[in-house]
Amino acid sequence: DTHIIIAIDGPAAAGKGTLSRRLAARYGLHHLDTGLTYRATAKALLDRGLPLDDEGLAADVARNLDLSSLDRSVLAVHEVGEAASKVAVMPKVRRALVEAQRDFAATAPGTVLDGRDIGTVVCPDALIKFYVTASPEVRAQRRYEEIIGQGGSADLAGILADLKKRDARDSERTDSPLKPAPDAHLLDTSEMGIEAAFEAARVLVDAAL
Ligand code: C5P
Repeated sequence: DTHIIIAIDGPAAAGKGTLSRRLAARYGLHHLDTGLTYRATAKALLDRGLPLDDEGLAADVARNLDLSSLDRSVLAVHEVGEAASKVAVMPKVRRALVEAQRDFAATAPGTVLDGRDIGTVVCPDALIKFYVTASPEVRAQRRYEEIIGQGGSADLAGILADLKKRDARDSERTDSPLKPAPDAHLLDTSEMGIEAAFEAARVLVDAAL
């Protein structure tokens, strides 16, 4: 079987996005940031002034998403991430989005998917799985520098508190909580940085091919 799936999970701001894009480019694969699917669902509800906790309604929105037109720039904002982690606790929303994610992942020649439950739920048979993490302090610092770098203003302590809150919501939910798959390779980017993480991942993918 030449169809390649690379699964990348981990908490917010651990470096999953950069690593996924680099791996997709290196191996000529598609890339799906599954967080965007939860964000787009939440944003559609927010835009229409609809509640975030009506499971049937949110699942209808999720089923009607077009994964080929997810606009990262409007989905990146902090409030949308917060709202996304609220809709992401609802099993019917997850079922709808996981189905769409699996369809996308089936596109030849293969896909790098990043999220929270790729190795555990969405693609348990992936060729290779990574769990990318870093200390909350390092992740908050990276997010802070990203915002400052874009000319914005940010409060480091506030970012850290928000990250911890989102980690807790993602890890403690009953449906598909954030956790490493038993067969995932752990990459802690606290000290090694994202470039070194990419090198380490590349060596492991080459060995798995
Ligand atoms: O990764 P990102 O910050 O864009 O994800 C936003 C939220 O979507 C996460 O906090 C999480 O609650 C949810 N999510 C999820 N499963 C995924 C990807 C994201 O529950 N595979």
